[in-house]
Amino acid sequence: MREAIAIDTDPGQDDAVALLLAFASADLLDLRAITTVAGNVGVAQTTANALRIRDLAGADTPIHRGADAPLVFPLETAEFVCGPDGLAGAGLPPPASAAAPGHAVQALIALCRAAPEEGITLCPLGPLTNIALAFRLAPDILPRIRRIVLMGGAVALGNITPAAEFNFHVDPHAAAIVFGAGRPIAMFGLGVTLQAIASHAQVARIGALGNAAGRAIHGMLTRPRPGGLGSVGHPMHDACVIAFLLWPELFAGRDCFVEIATGALRGRSTIDWNGRTGRAANAHVVGSVQAHDLFERMIERLATLP
Ligand code: RIB
Ligand code: CA
Repeated sequence: MREAIAIDTDPGQDDAVALLLAFASADLLDLRAITTVAGNVGVAQTTANALRIRDLAGADTPIHRGADAPLVFPLETAEFVCGPDGLAGAGLPPPASAAAPGHAVQALIALCRAAPEEGITLCPLGPLTNIALAFRLAPDILPRIRRIVLMGGAVALGNITPAAEFNFHVDPHAAAIVFGAGRPIAMFGLGVTLQAIASHAQVARIGALGNAAGRAIHGMLTRPRPGGLGSVGHPMHDACVIAFLLWPELFAGRDCFVEIATGALRGRSTIDWNGRTGRAANAHVVGSVQAHDLFERMIERLATLP
């Protein structure tokens, strides 16, 4: 049975790879909608980027524009990493399509209320603003959520600050709401996503797939990378989320209590990895991935795209 999912995203190159992998996995994933949020770049641009990626995949999944700022703090973006338009290296044309009417938060609420019996899986790949707003506006949707599989946080050092990973740093209040909502969470923090770097040979094979998706991904993965981000290659942070849905056997982790800081260390995810607090686990924190196999399997699926 296909898993019903919704992807909330701030494209972003790694979001783009995650979206393309999802588009190439319709046999296993019933992607019911994409919702956009401000993060890597502003929400007008993340929405345009989601449309550009959908055009690239030749898909027709509805895309709804979402929050343009975090719940409390002013928006911080990351053009220094992803480029002025958020998709440096992809070489994609402007969108040939338009976003669906209706705000992303309302769309998420409607999607959850219409979820199949087994529920819908939410896949946040950016700041959690839309998800938190949906939970506050319509708490009745919580039982309809099968699980939340998200990229964010870090056991150790952050990337945007020493304390915090970008998605949780941008909107720590939203992250705290999501981790306090009582729904099953699988958390992909930097501890595992920084392992998700394709080898040079794998990147070359992606570029040689002979399709537009391969060329775009190759361009994104071979673009220059600023220093000080904790890795030399381009980590496919967000692709880990979709890969987990497809191939959970490639990952390992443990159930932990996770607390999100909203003060001076905003966005810090304090993870009780060793179970010292006695607090009940609120997330399955993924700590390792078989990266080589992840990209081998990803390449096979990307080859099926136009
Ligand atoms: O810290 C990495 C995360 O922040 C990724 O999701 C990236 O796309 C940005 O949103
Ligand atoms: Ca992202």
